[in-house]
Amino acid sequence: MDDLEHGVQPMELEQAVGSVIQGSLSQGLEVRLHPDVLVEDMRVGKFLVVQGRRSRFFCMLTDVSLGTSSPRILANPPDPNNSFLQEVLAGSGTYGTLNLSPMLMFTPTDVTAASRSPQTAPKATTFASYQANTNAVELLPVKTIPSHFSQVFEAGEYDFRAVFGWEDDPHRCNFSIGMPIDMDVPICLDLDRFVERSNGIFGKSGTGKSFLTRLLLSGIIRRRAAVNLIFDMHSEYGWEATSEGHKSRVSTVKGLRQLFPDQVQMYTLDPESTKRRGVRDAQELYISFDQIEVEDLMLVRGELNLSEASLENAIILRNEFGKAWINRLMAMSNEEIQEFCEVKMGSKSSIMALQRKLTRLDDLKYLRQTCPKNYVGQILESLEAGKHVVVEFGSQSNMLSYMLATNIIARRIHASYVHKAEKFLQTKNVSDRPHQLVITIEEAHRFLDAATVRQTIFGTIAREMRKYFVTLLVVDQRPSGIDNEVMSQVGTRITALLNDEKDIDAIFTGVSGGQALRSVLAKLDSKQQALVLGHAVPMPVVVRTRPYDETFYAEIGDRDWESMSNEAVLTAAQSARADLGF
Ligand SMILES: Nc1ncnc2c1ncn2[C@@H]1O[C@H](COP(=O)(O)OP(=O)(O)OP(=O)(O)O)[C@@H](O)[C@H]1O
Ligand SMILES: [Mg+2]
Repeated sequence: MDDLEHGVQPMELEQAVGSVIQGSLSQGLEVRLHPDVLVEDMRVGKFLVVQGRRSRFFCMLTDVSLGTSSPRILANPPDPNNSFLQEVLAGSGTYGTLNLSPMLMFTPTDVTAASRSPQTAPKATTFASYQANTNAVELLPVKTIPSHFSQVFEAGEYDFRAVFGWEDDPHRCNFSIGMPIDMDVPICLDLDRFVERSNGIFGKSGTGKSFLTRLLLSGIIRRRAAVNLIFDMHSEYGWEATSEGHKSRVSTVKGLRQLFPDQVQMYTLDPESTKRRGVRDAQELYISFDQIEVEDLMLVRGELNLSEASLENAIILRNEFGKAWINRLMAMSNEEIQEFCEVKMGSKSSIMALQRKLTRLDDLKYLRQTCPKNYVGQILESLEAGKHVVVEFGSQSNMLSYMLATNIIARRIHASYVHKAEKFLQTKNVSDRPHQLVITIEEAHRFLDAATVRQTIFGTIAREMRKYFVTLLVVDQRPSGIDNEVMSQVGTRITALLNDEKDIDAIFTGVSGGQALRSVLAKLDSKQQALVLGHAVPMPVVVRTRPYDETFYAEIGDRDWESMSNEAVLTAAQSARADLGF
């Protein structure tokens, strides 16, 4: 105990909040709060540190409860006005307990040495070295737990720095996505690790998913961690989106094209709507019927109400007519269909139903019988040039339209990436290495539910992981709708509040110790708070999301003001020259 009290204190001034009284590696630790600590200050999601004899354990608070030492107190609670008796009981008769989930541990090497040789003064094991050089701290997954009565502290700035690093760390591609719930220290994601796996942003409606997505995409662009292809269903990432501000006024936030005008290219499936919104140089994007494969129709079979038999007949048509099959089918008369079926063993009623149902595709503004230009190829060129591409849908944002277009475009882009990745594997030439690509999709469960996941390119991308340098950023409010296998491949999960039990369960698919974190997730604030866990953070953590506002624009390097003042400087200089008669 002596060394605990004198030697290994993390920070001399720090007051312990409690002592570990029992626990297990699998179930977590139980901590008795010290009498002077207010239970109400201990909120789930808080980051606490347990100082064991040898190691320091970084933990998350997962539950808070009240205890009494004797049933008599319960049967006979003190009078509410008798504060004296309440104070006498506090700490001995009544107490608060915490449940902690240990996530990481850190064992200073000199501590190990010290405890091996009892002669060494335990004072040598202060955290001075750790504080001085947190970069060198090696954090390991917890393999054990602290001993009885180890003291528990609120995490200090050093602890956060040691675990989550610095935004300007030259050795890492860190990006701050927020701060912990009760301190002002940045919590960083390692973007290099983030983009190498598929990731998810989850939360029920209105919790801040779109804002989180914009933040992360800005970070990825700023730190050049990957190129982005964003399927912007609600036209909110590329150019100006509204923010639910004060009721009396509509406030807007900047889109990525406004923050990074040279690096982001916008394409639109609804040029009029995009123009109306004030975007000047978005490229038009059309898709032709001959780019639609049967697998694209399988994805939207629900939307088009296609039967199994119609899809089977679609395959027969595709085999017969090749790429032009839809155009050919649309032009066929009943007699021609009859004839076709007699020769090719098709079903007349199914083909007629298919023909009827596919007429709905004519309503989609961006579909053309033929296209003079290869628009998808153009997107690919932009991506190859390191530009980020936002595809806006405007009025074409219904599910049929969104799913069809994203699948067609993403399939082609993926095919090209597979080709490039294979070439790179063969030549091993660094200049052949494709740019890491992150594809952002909304309403991801529509593409990735168990029934459709095998038919969409997105299922393939999620499952093959980083093999071909393409990963997904899925944004969704119903994670329970996503296939389990895909969910377990999701590297980093950034989750705002979810209420539905099934959705909460889905977040913890394939996460060991996830059960304890359920309460944390269910108790998040309804806005601008998220639980971050997975590949890009060393341990799960609750953040207050970084505000996406003017301050952020400036921090991320928005050059608006600067360039304006440069222009002003230039004009001033020119007029000065004119004045002087040059
Ligand atoms: N990081 C943030 N910075 C500033 N405001 C935020 C932030 N996160 C959330 N908000 C506020 O919360 C509101 C809702 O956020 P957002 O539109 O991102 O929700 P959502 O989860 O995408 O909802 P939906 O599922 O309906 O699309 C925003 O309009 C904004 O006012
Ligand atoms: Mg949204």
